[in-house]
Amino acid sequence: MSDGHQPNPKSARAIIIAVDGPAASGKGTIARALAAHFDLPHMDTGALYRAVALNLWRWGGDPASEFEAVRACEDIGSNWDDPELRSEPVSKIASRVSAYPAVREALIERQRAFASQAGGAVLDGRDIGTIIAPAADVKLFVTASPRVRANRRVRELLERGMPAHFDEVLSDLARRDERDMKREVAPLAPAADSILLDTSDWSVAEAVAAAIERVQARLEGAE
Ligand code: CDP
Repeated sequence: MSDGHQPNPKSARAIIIAVDGPAASGKGTIARALAAHFDLPHMDTGALYRAVALNLWRWGGDPASEFEAVRACEDIGSNWDDPELRSEPVSKIASRVSAYPAVREALIERQRAFASQAGGAVLDGRDIGTIIAPAADVKLFVTASPRVRANRRVRELLERGMPAHFDEVLSDLARRDERDMKREVAPLAPAADSILLDTSDWSVAEAVAAAIERVQARLEGAE
């Protein structure tokens, strides 16, 4: 600009930031920090699949039935704050029901509406940069090694007072990664234009700082 004024990407226009990655990669923490930094609303889309799983679990529904899983998509608004949402049984069921095309279809509009709201948004999940918001301004794909992710998940579960054993958590993450990457609908994969962030050797503060820096750089480059 001729007057030397740099437009501030924090306020210049509505920004959509997509944060995808495998389980316990740190994408939720990064997405929340980006939302706070850029003053944007945030949606944890994994919570939608977890809420469906929790409904199904409470009813004693069968995760092998796509029909029952779709019924469990109704009325998911009531259990956002339920601590069971993050429990291992619910995580396992969430990973199974999220592979059903009809479940993904039932949840897509809510996510797209959130992504396209006037002020912009940050969403984290598995298919934000590829399916939900393919035109997002910035896409991050957050990863970490399986052992680092398993350690983080064990710590998170213990802090919540839930039981956790490293070997079980590690093999469970591997099963969920495989299911997420191999499913036919919206498989977990980095969008072609995403920025890869491997957080294996970083503290939370380092990962957040790196994410903010990369997003800022991409936004300035796009101005
Ligand atoms: O926190 P964590 O990464 O373990 O899981 P999450 O993000 O809360 O997601 C729970 C489950 O929902 C995952 O195992 C995915 O299979 C599924 N999911 C999905 O399929 N698509 C999304 N956009 C978000 C989550």
